[in-house]
This record gives sequence, C-alpha cells and structure tokens, in this order.
Amino acid sequence: MDRYVVIGNPIAHSQSPFIHQAFAEQTGQDMKYERLLAPLDSFESSLRDFVEAGGQGCNVTVPFKTDALAVAGELSERATLAEAVNTLKLLPDGRLFADNTDGAGLVMDLHRLGVALAGRRILLLGAGGAARGVIAPLLTEQPATLVVANRTERRAEILSNRFAGLGPVSHQPLDALEGAFDLIINSTSASLQGEQLALPASLCHSGTQVYDMMYGREETPFLQWAAEQGVQDRFDGLGMLVGQAAESFYLWRGVRPDMAPVLQALRARLE
Ligand code: ATR
Repeated sequence: MDRYVVIGNPIAHSQSPFIHQAFAEQTGQDMKYERLLAPLDSFESSLRDFVEAGGQGCNVTVPFKTDALAVAGELSERATLAEAVNTLKLLPDGRLFADNTDGAGLVMDLHRLGVALAGRRILLLGAGGAARGVIAPLLTEQPATLVVANRTERRAEILSNRFAGLGPVSHQPLDALEGAFDLIINSTSASLQGEQLALPASLCHSGTQVYDMMYGREETPFLQWAAEQGVQDRFDGLGMLVGQAAESFYLWRGVRPDMAPVLQALRARLE
C-alpha cells in the first residue's frame, strides 16, 4: 500500500490524515496517510527515513515549508514563486518533486464559493509566508487590482515588487489603508496571537466579500469585524485547507477528489 504523511512540528492537530483518508475512500485509492512529527532540527533526516521506508509523498507544514525547498530535486514554478513547499512527491528516479498547492487551494475554494476574482479589487492583508503563496495564483485570475497591506510595510513592498511582472499588484501600509475593496482576504496570523487588526470601515462597500485563511470553531476576529461592517459573505479557510489537499492528492494519485463532502464532514468534526 502506498504511504503518505504530513510532516510538521507540532503535528498532532493536523486534519490532513482525515482529509486524505476521506479522498482515498471516495476515489477508491489504496493508500495510507499519517502524521509524522519531525524534530525541529531534523526535517531532512526524518523525510529521508520516511522515503527509505517506502514513502511515496508527503505534505509539509509549519515550520518546514522553507526547509523543504532544499530537498527538492525538481521544483514547480508555483513553489519557486511561493518560496515554500507544501507537497513532495517521489519521482521514479528517486528525486523529490516539490510543489506548493496552497494558492491553488485558495483559488479552488473561492471558485467553489462562487466568489468572482476577475476584474475585482482585492485586498490581501499580511505579507508573510501565507501571503507569498497565494499572490501568483490570485493574479492569474486577472483581478482589477491586488493590494498587499502589511503592518511592516516594507515586507508588502518586497512582495508587490516581486510579483509585479505577473499582474496589477501594489502595496499599502496596514495602518493607513485607503480605498474600498470587493474582496478582502486575511492571511495574517494576528488572531493566533489573540490580536485584532485595526481596519477602517471604509474598506467595505455593500457588496464586499471577505475570506479569512484562518479557521476555527467560532468565527475568526477578522470575520467578526466584517460582520460588524455589515458584510454578508464571510468565509473561513477550512475550504482552502481541503482545496490544497485535493490538489496534492491529484499530484500524487492523478485523480481529482470531490471537495464538498469532505469539507462538510470536516466541518462537522470540528464542531
Ligand atoms: P505566515 O507563514 O502564517 O504568513 P509569517 O510569515 O510569520 O507567518 O507572517 C505573519 C503575517 O501576519 C505577517 O504579515 C505579519 O505582519 P508583520 O510582517 O508586520 O509581522 C502579520 N501579523 C501577525 N500578527 C499581526 C498583528 N497583530 N497585526 C497585524 N499583522 C500581524
């Protein structure tokens, strides 16, 4: 039976085994997917041990997404642009193909939700690793504009310069945001530290939609803020988690699973 894992530290909380087992059952794939806790200083040796024991591929999560760049025998364009890897696949010649499916997962989920991207004014909050992974896939959808806003403005500037060749991306400081947006996506980790972003009400108009890449049992602080502004369409990142998994599964197995029933089961499991 083909074996896959998700490697991270910590890893006990990961929902990936649940998602991939559900995909495997749905598509009739004979495979096993487990968690692998790698010591913080031993990502590479943990990965090698897994591959030597017959592992076919893995997901990589915090804090190893950058370390995984170094083990790549072949790197996809989207992983190169994201400067981070969340999926590895063993190639027949023994090398590892490294990919990043996070951005595709976000775009897939926005499509599933019926959120239009083409021609729209999009605001992306945050300029860390999570933001870097989604900018190129968002620009591919041809928005009217994509503004990256970050507390440390310099990081937003670096990102917008880096992706400027791919589409209409610019940057603004988080504490002096101007303009109204059709879609606001939160990629910051502020809520993980229990902090709330101080955002002006003027960012929203009557048709604004919001998406938080974070998720939780309760509505996230960012989605709560949007609710206070009267925003009706508020979505959390659980669908992005399932979407990136679906894209990894496709890379490994060549089969596209149906996200919807798995997302529904995962939501029920988290409640
Ligand atoms: P990730 O990989 O999750 O993106 P990261 O690279 O550490 O993690 O980036 C965290 C992001 O959340 C950054 O954009 C960070 O802003 P800074 O670059 O200014 O640090 C943002 N962030 C975290 N806590 C925040 C807070 N309380 N207010 C605003 N932005 C915050």
